[in-house]
Amino acid sequence: MTRPVLLSGIQPSGQLTLGNYIGAIRNWKALEDDYDCLFLLVDLHAITVRQDPADLRRRCREFLALYIACGLNPERSQIFAQSQVRGHGHLAWILDCYAMVGELNRMTQFKDKSRKHADNINAGLFNYPVLMAADILLYQTQLVPVGDDQKQHLELTRDIAQRFNTLHGEVFTVPEPFIPPVGARIMGLQEPTAKMSKSDDAPTNAIYLLDEPKTITRKIKRAVTDTDGEVRYDPQAKPGVSNLLQIFAAVSGRDIDSLVNEYAGGGYGRLKGDLADAVVALIEPLQARYNEFQADPALLDGILTRAAENANARAEATIRRVHEVLGFLQ
Ligand code: TRP
Repeated sequence: MTRPVLLSGIQPSGQLTLGNYIGAIRNWKALEDDYDCLFLLVDLHAITVRQDPADLRRRCREFLALYIACGLNPERSQIFAQSQVRGHGHLAWILDCYAMVGELNRMTQFKDKSRKHADNINAGLFNYPVLMAADILLYQTQLVPVGDDQKQHLELTRDIAQRFNTLHGEVFTVPEPFIPPVGARIMGLQEPTAKMSKSDDAPTNAIYLLDEPKTITRKIKRAVTDTDGEVRYDPQAKPGVSNLLQIFAAVSGRDIDSLVNEYAGGGYGRLKGDLADAVVALIEPLQARYNEFQADPALLDGILTRAAENANARAEATIRRVHEVLGFLQ
C-alpha cells in the first residue's frame, strides 16, 4: 500500500515555539502512519532575507533535532534541507516560465514582505511562491498542510500545475490543502489577538521550545490578561485568558470547560502558575531528548543525508518527465 504524499516546509529561521508544536509538529506525528511525509527545511526560501551562514547551518540541525525530539520518526518521514536536493531550484526556474508576473504581483505575502524589507526587495522574494510550488510539485505531493498565510501560495501552485498539465500532459499531481483534524491556534502571550510567531520581535510574546523552564514560567506569569479577574473562555472579549486556557487544554489533554470549572473564581494567578507547571512538564523531557540528539551531530547529519538521497531519487523522476515533455535533451 502506498501512502499519499504529504509535504510541509518550514523556514529554518527564528526559533520553534510552543505554537509550532501544538499547532503543527504534534499533529504531523499522528500523520506518519497514514501519509508518506516530507518535511523540508526551506533554506533556499530563507535567503530571501539576509542570513548569517553559521546561524543558518546551526538552525537546520537544531530544527531537525527538535522535530525528532517532538516525536517525528526519521525512519518513516523524510526530513532534510531544501538545498540538499538540487531539483528544487531547477524546477523553480522551469515553473517561473509558467507563472505570470501578474499572478505573483497579487501575492499578499510579497506585498507584506516588501514593506518589511524595503531595503532588499530582491527577485527571490518575488519568486518565492514559485519555489514553493516547485517544492510541492517535485514530489507529486497530494496534500499540503497550510495555515491561512500560505493558502494563496497553494492556490498558485495548483494553477501552475494545471497550466503545465494542460499544455504538456499529466505531469504533475495537483495538490490539495490539508486541514489537520485537530489544530489549536496558539496566540501570542503579549498580543493574544495575533498568532504566536517563531520570528516575533518581542521574545516575551512567544514560548520557545528551547526556553529554560524559569523563562517559560516568567513569560506565562507576565502574559497579558484583562482586569475583570474572571476565568472564562471568550476569545472575543477575553483573548488573553482564552489563549491561556487553550494552551492549558492543549498541553494537558483536558477540555476547556473542565479547566474553567476548576479555575473559575480563583483569579488568574493560580491558573497561570498551574499552566506554567504543565508547560514545563511537557517541555522538559522534550529538551532532554533534544540535548541527546544535539550531542550526536553525526546522527543528525546522517538523517539529513539519507532523507535527501531518498528525496533526490524521487525528484529526479519528476525532472526526467518534465525534461521529456519540454523537449530537453536527456
Ligand atoms: N512558504 C512557507 C512558509 O513561509 C514555507 C514553505 C516552503 C512551504 N515550501 C513549502 C510550506 C512547501 C508548505 C509546502 O511558511
